[in-house]
Amino acid sequence: MSDVQLREWQDDDLPTIGRLHAVSRQHAYADLVDPVALARVSPASQETVWRARWAELREGAAQGRPYVALLAEAGGLSVGFAVAFALGRPDDGSGAELNALHVLPSHHGAGVAQALMSGVVAALGTWDVPTAHLLVLEGNARAAAFYRRTGWVLRGAAGTHDVGGAPVPVLRYELGLR
Ligand SMILES: CC(C)(COP(=O)(O)OP(=O)(O)OC[C@H]1O[C@@H](n2cnc3c(N)ncnc32)[C@H](O)[C@@H]1OP(=O)(O)O)[C@@H](O)C(=O)NCCC(=O)NCCS
Repeated sequence: MSDVQLREWQDDDLPTIGRLHAVSRQHAYADLVDPVALARVSPASQETVWRARWAELREGAAQGRPYVALLAEAGGLSVGFAVAFALGRPDDGSGAELNALHVLPSHHGAGVAQALMSGVVAALGTWDVPTAHLLVLEGNARAAAFYRRTGWVLRGAAGTHDVGGAPVPVLRYELGLR
């Protein structure tokens, strides 16, 4: 897809982010998360989540911890987003976290994720951190393949992540930045 455009989030993007996150999770996690828990993931629940995180990101930035929060648009539609931030203190050698990268199922395999990843990595490269990390649900084979292709290396099991109130096992990947 040639017409992917990235831009930084604005305050009024949060309903869009919530919707993208809910649609993406419902699709990608259908076989990985208990259906009752997954049913709790809605555009409204995810807008609430991101409203709080957006406030935290900006507060962190005011204290010297940079972040990048990107919205991808294609054909006049919002089709994906990504968020990464520098950590206040290193996490097992990592100085930054790629916290979320989601693309609408209709736009998988179209280069949107690659554009978002390139935008995130460009930002990471300006933060003077040696390594970044991310967590991905165990069994999320498509995401794992995408991360491997974009240079991330599997480091192993990393506990659980809450999805709709259910703890789901996650794997940690790292990306060297120097
Ligand atoms: C993860 C995500 C951003 C990747 O974007 P994408 O457009 O699907 O990525 P691409 O199509 O460029 O790459 C996906 C890779 O997975 C491969 N793949 C597709 N389905 C697969 C499957 N079931 N098992 C294993 N690999 C699979 C593709 O062949 C491709 O690999 P290749 O380029 O080496 O051939 C996107 O799939 C997404 O938003 N998923 C839902 C949200 C998510 O899981 N985000 C990560 C949370 S940490």
